[in-house]
Amino acid sequence: MCYDCDAASGTAGTTRRSFARFLAVGAGLTVLTACTPEAPQAVPSSSAPVPASPVPSPTPVPSTAAPAPEAATVGETPPSATAAPSPSAALPRQFSLTDPASPWVVVNKHRPLVPAAYAPADLAGPAVRTSATGESALLNSTTAAAAEAMFAAAARDGVVMVLASGYRSYATQVTTYNGYVASRGQADADTASARPGYSEHQTGWSFDIADGGGACAFQPCFADQPAAVWAKANGHRFGFVVRYPWMFHEITGYYYEPWHLRYIGVEAATDMVNRGINTLEEYFGVGAAPGYP
Ligand code: DAL
Ligand code: ZN
Repeated sequence: MCYDCDAASGTAGTTRRSFARFLAVGAGLTVLTACTPEAPQAVPSSSAPVPASPVPSPTPVPSTAAPAPEAATVGETPPSATAAPSPSAALPRQFSLTDPASPWVVVNKHRPLVPAAYAPADLAGPAVRTSATGESALLNSTTAAAAEAMFAAAARDGVVMVLASGYRSYATQVTTYNGYVASRGQADADTASARPGYSEHQTGWSFDIADGGGACAFQPCFADQPAAVWAKANGHRFGFVVRYPWMFHEITGYYYEPWHLRYIGVEAATDMVNRGINTLEEYFGVGAAPGYP
């Protein structure tokens, strides 16, 4: 665990200290990891014990029946006379914001997957360096191909990038989320781990990266590691955005996750960068989702 990342000197250290203070003031000192495929590790300030193994859940897995495809519309708030169209409306190609098989599906605390137990039909294992095993080494086929291209480009630039956690089934998210709740309590868990049926990882469009070193894996200090710096600067060229950027938790519902990348396609990801838009909620005009309704 990397709780003393501030020991690093220079601007990066200052940034991390600011972020650490922000965490301490805003949410306690326990919001430090997210997206880990296993139950979370112990945090020094936590009084709750860490489960020795993932906590099974009695939550039933809902039907996997496919949803009726949504019309390819952008935004779901009826436009008012004064409302500006969402930025994504300017792109020549449009995709559904609700179909989990769509590259533009927006999943957040207000927008669960439908059906809740959705599973991609085209899961594939990308030919990239990975520390993930089993289903978490998989992505949907489009994301897998884009990841292969991105990892190869990073390698050409001398950057080691590792697939740390990809697809998670509904059942796996039950285990992951329950592990957070058991160790931190539900309020804190909800700032770092999606409830079952609310995780992008279940769509196959998202994955977490690491750099093979491990010191800052799933920690705030990962933001300053070459893999994260490179992904933030170059991910859009392959269709990826950093889904939970720094200081946008009131919109996304989650604290900074520099390791969590989301595929939305090269056109949209590049458009977001060019327009300086940081979140999918803003880009697709679906409204902020700071908490569960
Ligand atoms: N850590 C992200 C929000 C997830 O659990 O999907
Ligand atoms: Zn993630």
